[in-house]
Amino acid sequence: MDKIVIKGGRALHGEVQASGAKNAALPILASALLADGTSTYRNVPDLADVATMLKVLRTMGCDAERDAETSDVCQVGVNGHITPEAPYELVKTMRASVLVLGPLVARFGRARVSMPGGCAIGARPIDQHLKGLKALGADIHLTEGYVEATAKQLKGGTVNFDVITVTGTENVMMAAVLAKGRTVMENCAREPEVEELAKVLNKMGARIEGAGTSIITIQGVDGLKPVEHAILPDRIEAGTLLVAAAISGGDVLVKRVVPEHMDAMVEKLREAGCTLTAEGGGLRCKAPQRLEAVNITTTEHPGFPTDMQAQLMALMSVSQGTSVINENIFENRFMHVPELHRLGADITIQGHTAVVKGVKGLSGAPVMATDLRASASLILAGLRAEGRTDVSRVYHLDRGYERLERKLSGLGADIRREKA
Ligand code: EPZ
Repeated sequence: MDKIVIKGGRALHGEVQASGAKNAALPILASALLADGTSTYRNVPDLADVATMLKVLRTMGCDAERDAETSDVCQVGVNGHITPEAPYELVKTMRASVLVLGPLVARFGRARVSMPGGCAIGARPIDQHLKGLKALGADIHLTEGYVEATAKQLKGGTVNFDVITVTGTENVMMAAVLAKGRTVMENCAREPEVEELAKVLNKMGARIEGAGTSIITIQGVDGLKPVEHAILPDRIEAGTLLVAAAISGGDVLVKRVVPEHMDAMVEKLREAGCTLTAEGGGLRCKAPQRLEAVNITTTEHPGFPTDMQAQLMALMSVSQGTSVINENIFENRFMHVPELHRLGADITIQGHTAVVKGVKGLSGAPVMATDLRASASLILAGLRAEGRTDVSRVYHLDRGYERLERKLSGLGADIRREKA
């Protein structure tokens, strides 16, 4: 298992480009199943999770490949016989594989997909995904750890989510586009990645309105055609890079971002004293002399994203004052706290709340990544910490960040990957 070694204390300067959005690429790759032929996607980030999704599609009989090792282009061909099944050994490594469920039932009338099971940050149930598919007429059976969903022909219906769920909204949307008649989905997730998926589906011939709001209406169509599309930039990676500028006392331009997708995190960085300005299709973050503590409450988009909570906690650990951080989305997303303690952070957990007392400085130490965004949080803290920080188990990081250590070293960080 690789580790990332950081020598802290360098202010980051320069320009860096955000990659394509992981959480848009995953549902969009799955949506290729809805059409016969080959779809081409550009700006697809080179991530372990994307590789897993391509593997899931190949296992079913699709031609799903990245054009070349270093290319950002992926093609998914759905031409021959498709076996509508996603096996446990793949789904357990990436729960977003469950996103093939909706397209498979809609297109092939049946699907057998392993229940994803929980992960480090929470139980991650899919009851709302199944509720939505049932509302469209699918028969759902759970046997031997698998969801077996069948439907001769899905019919439009009304779906009211009890919980706002990003992939639940995406799964049901992908099922409804080929259902007979009209579907109304209420209490939908409003994330930009949901909107991006709807944009791709409409380019394929779907008739979706309201994506990005909490009510989405879909008029089913008889068939969809393959698509060419460039994936939107990753707002969470971009936010992580802005925090790298802030925590290191630097001045960094993150290029190729959509600022309006990042309002909540930009506002918090400004509140903490950073200067953020739109520049050349990107966002520039200039760190202040003195970082101020700010309070964070994670909520669904357009609120503060849970995927940025660990990164802001690292920043707050060296800010002036006390920051109260409420994690409202996942039940176990504070696993970076004990590792930040090892670097000298002063953080107390009370249920879903973490109280962060800013300290003068952090000191480097060996720490262990526990999940994707925790890995990023520890690397950010390492940029600030005095001395050397070794972050182990960075396979977590590689699920969602494209060569982050190279991007940071391009900005002047003393950081390298070591084969463990
Ligand atoms: C998506 O996960 C993202 N992943 C997550 O990003 C992100 O943290 C999350 O949305 C919230 O923004 C992808 O898009 C691939 P949810 P998802 O369904 O869809 C509960 C990252 O770091 N819930 O919106 O799985 C659930 O337990 C990853 O990039 C149900 O109760 O999250 C959670 O408390 C981590 N029943 C809440 O809803 C359901 O059927 C939100 O989960 C579904 C969800």
